[in-house]
Amino acid sequence: MAMIALKCPDSRVTVVDMNAARIAAWNSNSLPIYEPGLDDVVKQARGRNLFFSTEVAAEIKKADIIFVAVNTPTKSYGVGQGRAADLRYIESVARTIAEHAQGDKIIVEKSTIPVKTAEAIKTILANNSNGLKCAVLSNPEFLAEGTAIKDLENPDRVLIGGERTPEGEKAVATLAGVYGRWVPRDRIITTNLWSSELSKLVANAFLAQRISSINSISALCEATGADVDEVAFAIGKDSRIGPKFLKASVGFGGSCFQKDILNLTYLCESFGLPEVAAYWTSVVGINDWQKRRFAARIVKELFNTVADKKIAVLGFAFKKDTNDTRESAAINVCRDLLAEHANVCVYDPKVPADEIRRDVLNGAADNPRLTVAKDAYSACAGAHAIAIITEWDEFKTLDYARIYAGMPKPAFLFDGRNIVDLAALRKIGFKASGIGRA
Ligand code: UDX
Repeated sequence: MAMIALKCPDSRVTVVDMNAARIAAWNSNSLPIYEPGLDDVVKQARGRNLFFSTEVAAEIKKADIIFVAVNTPTKSYGVGQGRAADLRYIESVARTIAEHAQGDKIIVEKSTIPVKTAEAIKTILANNSNGLKCAVLSNPEFLAEGTAIKDLENPDRVLIGGERTPEGEKAVATLAGVYGRWVPRDRIITTNLWSSELSKLVANAFLAQRISSINSISALCEATGADVDEVAFAIGKDSRIGPKFLKASVGFGGSCFQKDILNLTYLCESFGLPEVAAYWTSVVGINDWQKRRFAARIVKELFNTVADKKIAVLGFAFKKDTNDTRESAAINVCRDLLAEHANVCVYDPKVPADEIRRDVLNGAADNPRLTVAKDAYSACAGAHAIAIITEWDEFKTLDYARIYAGMPKPAFLFDGRNIVDLAALRKIGFKASGIGRA
């Protein structure tokens, strides 16, 4: 919304939320999320044509276009538990709109949702007594965290799904006009509603599948002495495969991939397609295995015991340049090491200590074996092993000779992202290994 406000200075954009603390943070000098470049965009537009407010009902009344961007977590109860999307926030927003909106409105689904959710929204909206007439559009977002501003300024494509009726087409054209202020027209794709809804799930499933594919091969590389980065480079040169999203890792994280695949598999099963569901479920299966495999390898190489040994975990966010920790591989690795009675010391440049503790402990009693360091050097001081989990740039340029000097020998380093020069580390004396590298 900040980007739309920036690019369309003659449109008034108001972001509303019931959570007053969040809105206050958006109105303050310290935004509630860390995203490179976002501060600048918000500062340029805020107070001009970008506003943050808790006046949900009043702003619904005023708006011509309403974007619904509430969360759709995985259901934690009842039918579809652990896989289906929990749509209660979507429904609650639809009901709020039906209660307060009047006249002609365009409702845009921005949240990632199961196919045919727009139909449910339409039914709720149709049951109103205000003379409200709505067109419902699907406009999934493809930005990735850490590069959000770049992705929004220069998207590969903008996808808009709408009903193939005159009203639907008109609404699609209106929204296309908003993006058309800065996105070339040939990158604005229009489809029917359900194709658009499904495309978002499928895009994330394909991306995650590439990572699980290369991660599965990383295990084979470790067993045979091939180097997974060399294999990825070689296959990526085939223009049909392409070089992106082939970086072997300790496992993908983030709020989207696992959730969307689970959603997709639930959808397939609901439509009587268990074979398709099983195929996509295996993408998540390999990812879980990769995280466990990494922690198990640390234990094995440290002579099958990490009890009372200090392990430094560098990086906790699910990728660099974000403070988001949702589904981060670091959570699983820390838990597995704590279960082996290791003393785990975590350092992340952006994630606060209380967030790290909350994520790892997940409501369990405090575990004194888990500590959080203020910098990489104190995390590594006296550690038997270092595990790099997030590819933060600062981990590439640490003074590893100095770190090595302060560690008991043999000193181990496990690079879960393949970002450091293993040969150089071995010269220093480290027993260093990476994912998919001997
Ligand atoms: C993803 C999609 O990329 C985006 O289009 C969608 O809108 C939301 O979900 P995001 O989760 O922010 O975005 O990050 P992404 O860059 O896709 O990375 C996801 C995870 O995969 C991270 O943990 C990342 O480190 C990992 N990853 C990515 C790899 O392990 N290897 C790769 O080659 C690429």
